[in-house]
Amino acid sequence: MRPRHRPWEEAADFQIGLRPIAPEDWLEGGEADPAARKDPLFAASRGLVWAEADGSRPGQAEAADLIAAALGPAPAPAELPPLYAAARRLPDDLCLMEKRDGEWRLTALSLSAGSFFTAQEVIGRSLGELHGPVTGFADRFLVRVQRIFEGLRPDLVLERRNWTVLNSNALHTPSSAPIRARIGEIGPSQAASALSLRVERQTLRRLPRTGGALFTIRVWLAPLGSLAGQPERLAAFAHAWRSATPELRAYKRFDLYDDLVESFLADPQPA
Ligand code: HEM
Repeated sequence: MRPRHRPWEEAADFQIGLRPIAPEDWLEGGEADPAARKDPLFAASRGLVWAEADGSRPGQAEAADLIAAALGPAPAPAELPPLYAAARRLPDDLCLMEKRDGEWRLTALSLSAGSFFTAQEVIGRSLGELHGPVTGFADRFLVRVQRIFEGLRPDLVLERRNWTVLNSNALHTPSSAPIRARIGEIGPSQAASALSLRVERQTLRRLPRTGGALFTIRVWLAPLGSLAGQPERLAAFAHAWRSATPELRAYKRFDLYDDLVESFLADPQPA
């Protein structure tokens, strides 16, 4: 398994990184039965993976229509909220952003592959509040990101990606603590298989009827060892790892993985 996206080859710092893509490339697909993964979480851990604000159903329905237009129509179980019914057809998570009291806020989300946050924690948050933990976001990015939401044309599909390294190959990672608690169990020779490259591919598009925006998050995972045997890819990853800014390293807790990653880079075995 090779990583499908390699965003570490592009930037060593936080970035907005939104670029337009062809509308036909919007959803990448590639998971046979997303509902089989999402439905048990929706049943057993609802608050971790689903939340909706009052008044969000029209926006949810428009988001579901957009998905149906892309994938073709499918019967939606009437008892499910429209955004969740749409999300269970896709590998991606779906976040509905709507303007409330002058702020872009998260009004519904299906978050089955959350990266250290949960649906119930973030529902209702503004763009500024969502990004409170991201070093420098308010000073460097917030105003520009708000403008992007304001100016989003209906025919535009934007994509951005980010990445990290984690000692987990699970998609559903609501909390960092149980994962980080296991780092000490990994020996240097196990780094190739025990560490994963975790890439998020995110897209953004306007919902023209209700005025909101749909933000999608797709998580791709590959073992670190998938880079073995590819000298240029390895060199690019090593450069990204070592040249990441102190703020990015601190935010992603690269310090916890430095020894393991360097062991792998010194002797890059396949996973
Ligand atoms: C479309 C414009 C957006 C940009 C440019 C952006 C940018 C960022 C950046 C730079 C980070 C730090 C990690 C990374 O490099 O990706 C981040 C984290 C995050 N973003 Fe966004 N973001 C956007 C939209 C959203 C939306 C719509 C949501 C709503 C769910 C969201 C939720 C988050 C969360 C929860 C985090 C993690 C914060 C934490 O560490 O707790 N972002 N974002």
